[in-house]
Amino acid sequence: MSTQYDVEKGDSVHSGKPVTVDRYTAGARVNHWITAVSLVLLALSGLALFHPDLFFLTGLFGGGPLTRIIHPWIGVVLFFSFFGLFLRFWRANLWKREDGTWLARIRDVLTAHEDRLPEVGKYNAGQKFVFWSMSLLIIVLITTGIIIWDQYFFDLTTIEQKRWAVLIHSMAAIVAISVWIIHVYAAIWVRGTIRAMTRGSVTGGWAWRHHRKWLRELVAKSPKDKSGSTPAE
Ligand code: HEM
Repeated sequence: MSTQYDVEKGDSVHSGKPVTVDRYTAGARVNHWITAVSLVLLALSGLALFHPDLFFLTGLFGGGPLTRIIHPWIGVVLFFSFFGLFLRFWRANLWKREDGTWLARIRDVLTAHEDRLPEVGKYNAGQKFVFWSMSLLIIVLITTGIIIWDQYFFDLTTIEQKRWAVLIHSMAAIVAISVWIIHVYAAIWVRGTIRAMTRGSVTGGWAWRHHRKWLRELVAKSPKDKSGSTPAE
């Protein structure tokens, strides 16, 4: 990011070029997309096993038995991959006082009256909700998943425990898919957000408009020489 960024004016152009702000390192983006692909594959293979009407989805994974074998392994990939995201982002997702105000004004969020919202840091309350609910859901999914992974853990639990685990696993999966839909919808709905996870940067205007406190912090931290670009997380 150019260090000449005038945060008070919300400059979006510097020396004739649009100002961009680094938001994600390449490592964070690869980590994110591995997580995203795993969740999509898990949802498809899980739904294939969930209801006979959706059994045709097993065709994507080479048939019923293969789907049953592959599904838990993709779950293991999702677990470790999300754990990587968790380590990277948990701090930025801690609840702050302005998040409560942002949430109380959710009507203004939905009607795009951003001038009435408080300045927020790297993530807003909605993103923090997605982050923490996914963290909890993935723990529930892996724990219940292991209980019903008979190929390796058959002897460790009783049939009663397995019955409860199947029920909780399916319910957690439905909630996780819903949270994922909200996450993707929000990423598309807030114009200019997708490029954060594809190119790693956002425009200065986007940062000023949606995460002004974060932008102010970056500008305050950035070195005062012209070559300086603010490191992404
Ligand atoms: C195809 C599906 C997905 C798309 C298009 C997508 C898109 C995005 C975008 C654009 C961002 C950047 C938001 C910002 O910086 O303001 C982001 C952040 C993030 N995404 Fe995704 N994502 C997808 C799937 C997932 C899945 C499946 C998970 C987790 C299970 C996930 C977890 C996260 C996390 C943790 C962040 C950082 C935000 C935070 O920590 O609050 N994403 N995603």
